[in-house]
Amino acid sequence: MPENRKILVTSALPYANGPIHLGHLVEYIQTDIWVRFQKMQGHDCTYVCADDAHGTPIMLRAQQESITPEALIARISQEHQADFKAFGIAFDNYHSTHSPENEAFVRDIYLKLRKNGHITQRTIKQAYDPVKEMFLPDRFIKGECPRCGAKDQYGDSCEACGATYSPTDLKNPVSALSGAKPIEKESEHYFFKLGDFESMLREWLNPDITQTRHVQSEAANKLNEWFDAGLQDWDISRDAPYFGFEIPDAPGKYFYVWLDAPVGYMASFKNYCVREGVNFDEYWRKDSQAELYHFIGKDILYFHALFWPAMLEGSGYRKPTAVFAHGFLTVNGQKMSKSRGTFITARTYLDHLNPEYLRYYYATKLNSSMEDIDLNLDDFTAKVNSDLIGKYINIASRASGFLHKYFQGRIGNTVLETVGGKIRDPSTGKITEHSADYRFEVLENTTRYASSIASLYEQRQYSLATRLIMELADDVNEWWNRWAPWELAKDFYNPLHPSNQEHLHRVCSEIVEAFRLLTLYIKPILPHLAVQVESFLNIQPLQWADAQQPLPTGHTINEYKHLITRIDPAQIEAMLEGSKESGQTN
Ligand code: MSP
Ligand code: ZN
Repeated sequence: MPENRKILVTSALPYANGPIHLGHLVEYIQTDIWVRFQKMQGHDCTYVCADDAHGTPIMLRAQQESITPEALIARISQEHQADFKAFGIAFDNYHSTHSPENEAFVRDIYLKLRKNGHITQRTIKQAYDPVKEMFLPDRFIKGECPRCGAKDQYGDSCEACGATYSPTDLKNPVSALSGAKPIEKESEHYFFKLGDFESMLREWLNPDITQTRHVQSEAANKLNEWFDAGLQDWDISRDAPYFGFEIPDAPGKYFYVWLDAPVGYMASFKNYCVREGVNFDEYWRKDSQAELYHFIGKDILYFHALFWPAMLEGSGYRKPTAVFAHGFLTVNGQKMSKSRGTFITARTYLDHLNPEYLRYYYATKLNSSMEDIDLNLDDFTAKVNSDLIGKYINIASRASGFLHKYFQGRIGNTVLETVGGKIRDPSTGKITEHSADYRFEVLENTTRYASSIASLYEQRQYSLATRLIMELADDVNEWWNRWAPWELAKDFYNPLHPSNQEHLHRVCSEIVEAFRLLTLYIKPILPHLAVQVESFLNIQPLQWADAQQPLPTGHTINEYKHLITRIDPAQIEAMLEGSKESGQTN
């Protein structure tokens, strides 16, 4: 890969009809860590997102609130952006799919697909609400389960027995909007001929061994099942009333939300390019050398790894370098639930807890697979308290105390030279055996792991990265205990032990240096804390290359101020209570 990579990264666009919750945050935190890591590497990495603003649920919710859809999506966009900001999700641009840029790209792509023969149309029958005078998406039809007879089940699956079916199978169906019995009505629909792209998609999903994968192999296996079933035409139109973009040359027909949603990635990036003077085509033209990554949840793999690459191919754009799918969040081992208080919104969490704790906890759980991840609230409390406070931050408070008490906060010598396999201390000229100098080994080790940790971040193996960082923190703490600086300090003014002063200075300086390295390694996960530590250490924002640049001798650090607080289990209780309350109003 080139030295200075050009990378465009996206997270899925959250729907503009509800608040950000802890499930969503798995994705935005996962992506943000990756982007921050790439930026620390010095790569040219851009992270864009947007609200997904179209579709029936958004239209209906606006009606319910007696406001326009535009007013609704403007408000939700503000809420989403405030939540993301509070969790340290640092988008380079946040836009909307209901934007002029998006409309232009959607038309352009559609017209190219049509010109290239990939669009077809035919008349289909659909459920229609004669009172509301609109076609009903499956989820707006209710009735009795055809299998177990449970009442009030939605049009696609039964919550009582788990059966899945089509809405026409429901017994005594009614419109969830008006209560009227739906009728069948005909309408002309537009379709995207996905089957035209079968061979391209097969190859793209299953590259030969010499090529890099575009999706995880578990994802490819899943998607391959669709080929066996045969790729169906994709229905991309919806009838008015619909909140979306009208289809060219088809009055009263709108693009289905899922057609314009991924195009929103381009639209947000275009909006960024115009503002920042970046060349859009360099990223999106067919032969682009830039890298393009989409982070998504496993539930929307189908759209990103079949429809989207096919749309791009069919309209002459480049395809993604890779689609990275993650699993779903469970809380205490179960699906998030409003009644248990575990449907926790970003806002409710923020009312009670430090956002960086969640970033850390998710990082300890995340890897490159599509496995679900569990937020176990007891484990969350224990991990944050024992790792972040017990292992990591305590290192700083301990060492800086001595450094300020005895050495005016000045860093002593931490750089040791090797002479013939032995260690030479440049300040004293003393030579010691390498293996005997435990202090040196720990610091050397901590430095040496920079590249291993970097490749774990690159591979999205955050769980392994955090484990390694905490093991290094364990070593540093052990080293501290072994050197017992408090013992050295006892004898500080004892003329019989003049070497203790020098020793104490060395131990404290090295430990501050080790703390600097640990901070650098964990910075993609804990960006706010890292900024506070940088100001404590009195240094410029840490970049990855700084791992090889130890604090210079004579550098002065600031006095340690309390940086983070332990989680009190009462805070967790209060958050769950808060979620139950806000859940009732939702
Ligand atoms: N609007 C679509 C995405 C369009 S992308 C062109 C959408 N929106 S969403 O709000 O439902 O979800 C946004 C992202 O959050 C998706 O990637 C989804 O998988 C993810 N998650 C939503 N709930 C989640 C969990 N409970 N757990 C983990 N990720 C979850 O889908
Ligand atoms: Zn049932």
